[in-house]
Amino acid sequence: RHILLINGPNLNLLGKREPHVYGSTTLDDVIATVKSQALELGVELETFQSNHEGAIVDCIQEAAGWGPTVKSDEIKERKKVSAIIINPGALTHTSVAVRDALLGVDIPFIELHVSNVHAREPWRKHSYLSDKAAAVICGMGAFGYKAALEFAAKHMEVRED
Ligand code: DQA
Repeated sequence: RHILLINGPNLNLLGKREPHVYGSTTLDDVIATVKSQALELGVELETFQSNHEGAIVDCIQEAAGWGPTVKSDEIKERKKVSAIIINPGALTHTSVAVRDALLGVDIPFIELHVSNVHAREPWRKHSYLSDKAAAVICGMGAFGYKAALEFAAKHMEVRED
């Protein structure tokens, strides 16, 4: 399995930003942990973080071999990524474009939040992704990333091609 982990806006500040909400583990710590976990699980793990909505859309398209940099005669290329884990940050609550990209590539995904979005401002309860996600994780802190990777590696139904 080839798994892609995407972190959206402000998650580069994990561990520094609002530690009472998001904890003190940094994104580098999270990535080091899940990379070694991926080795143990025998899966390939790619990671990507961006503060820019369009860059995340590009990354999702590229996961299917359909990125804007791929020429049309290469579009038949088989899918490369079998599952996506995404913490979309605030794009969760705003982005039709990220939703459309995930549906467009038709790669199963896990939606992940460090904090419990249901115990915060009411507008954080709404997600543009949850109704299409294979699983939704929230409120587990940085451990959520480990839970998501183990699920994606061992339990998730994916197309193996
Ligand atoms: C978040 C929750 C979002 O509401 C927020 O905008 C974030 C992080 C989380 O991991 O808890 O940036 O996705």
